[in-house]
Amino acid sequence: MSNQHVSMQGMWSSRAVFVMAAVGSAVGLGNIWKFPYITGEYGGGAFVAVYLACIALIGIPIMMAEILLGRRGRASPIITMRTLAREEGASPAWSVVGYSGVVAGFLILSFYSVIAGWALAYVFQTASGGLNQVSAEGAASLFGDLVGSPGQLMVWHSVFMLMTVVVVARGVRYGIERAVTILMPLLFVMLVIMVAYAAVEGDFARGFDFLFNTDFARVFQLCTGPAEDLQCSFSGEPLLVAMGHAFFTLSLGMGAIMAYGAYVPEHASITGATITIALADTVVALLAGLAIFPIVFASGLEPSAGPGLIFQTLPIAFGNMPGGQWFGTVFFLLLVFAAWSSSISIAEPAVAWLVESRRWRRSVAAVMVGGLAWFIGIGSVLSFNYWSGEEYQLFGKTLFDLKDFLASNIMLPLGGLLIALFVAFGAGRRMALEELAISRQRLFDAWWFVIRYVSPLGIAIVFLNSIGVF
Ligand code: PFF
Repeated sequence: MSNQHVSMQGMWSSRAVFVMAAVGSAVGLGNIWKFPYITGEYGGGAFVAVYLACIALIGIPIMMAEILLGRRGRASPIITMRTLAREEGASPAWSVVGYSGVVAGFLILSFYSVIAGWALAYVFQTASGGLNQVSAEGAASLFGDLVGSPGQLMVWHSVFMLMTVVVVARGVRYGIERAVTILMPLLFVMLVIMVAYAAVEGDFARGFDFLFNTDFARVFQLCTGPAEDLQCSFSGEPLLVAMGHAFFTLSLGMGAIMAYGAYVPEHASITGATITIALADTVVALLAGLAIFPIVFASGLEPSAGPGLIFQTLPIAFGNMPGGQWFGTVFFLLLVFAAWSSSISIAEPAVAWLVESRRWRRSVAAVMVGGLAWFIGIGSVLSFNYWSGEEYQLFGKTLFDLKDFLASNIMLPLGGLLIALFVAFGAGRRMALEELAISRQRLFDAWWFVIRYVSPLGIAIVFLNSIGVF
């Protein structure tokens, strides 16, 4: 075991605070913005079923692995991987997991901040009454105006990145802990209210059916076009995207949860914490789906509208419900907070590493990381306007789509695969046994089997399938 029992970045004050912070990291734009829009793009229930299977068979076991590595190493992912590899007699090359996580973090932060900027813009739009009585067309054109304006997007992107830098600079205990504890439960309550609204005013039956009716024939199909004229072809892409999203939504595969694991008190139960985090994350995503799709269908919108989906549907609800101006403002504000508590965890592995390896002050490291992600983020801003045309696309994807695809669907699962392999084969059973300290042997054995065989094979199969090997 690493001879440090505390991290030099500080520690969470209790296990409960760690769980809150990890839920804060997991629950974010991934649940409320991305889950509904990719579910809409990839056809609904079948996609959701694959995603849930990935959470259970790949996400949960790998989250346990990340936390145990973090707590064992008590340092940033790069240094943790290097130290543990040395201690366990494995190759120092395992630190590549940490480095690739830092790169993925920059890619993710550089688009995350732009989308969080949309949510910020909508706080003001809603508060000023701009959504009152808005129609479906009105909501679509408001959204179009926002993303069509690079100037506005840059302002909100900059504001959000600044917010992230400020909290990360203040450090683990005082920066991150406080906000999360109050705001996450509130977000949950707001979502329940939105689902209730969707149940009364929306086409709830159709929305529910879309989300949960699993037509397995469609799992391997990519369908495009409007509902009446759906064009489907065989493709491994939905599987890959569902798995990528399981990693993205649980903040896995890039060291964010490993970094947070480094600040976990010595005797906290990792298994219990993991189940709580994964459950909270999944419930929020499904609630978001139940709030959004009934409105999509009742308003004659397309579920496959893409990244703008929630920004074109929820305003219709807020614009037409009693007290909607107030509810809408609170909702978008909470969405900003959910994104905020996630973005700080995206930056944490890189910041912690700079502090440890370069001895930089935390504030300096936070500014450097935020500054670079902000700069790369300009490409995400332009993807929605000047660079949205086909001449600026690669493989039919804008720069924004490409960054998301590469980070979420390739780098995170690859990072997760390596983490599973390191725990199961690089380090070995004794380390896992000591850290997890699961009293029921059967439970440990089950996890051990999954992390050794099921998760790595699952990831490998999805990868091979997506490049057309079978
Ligand atoms: N889990 C976050 C969300 O669902 O919005 C996004 C995220 C956070 C991804 C941290 C990756 C990460 F390391």
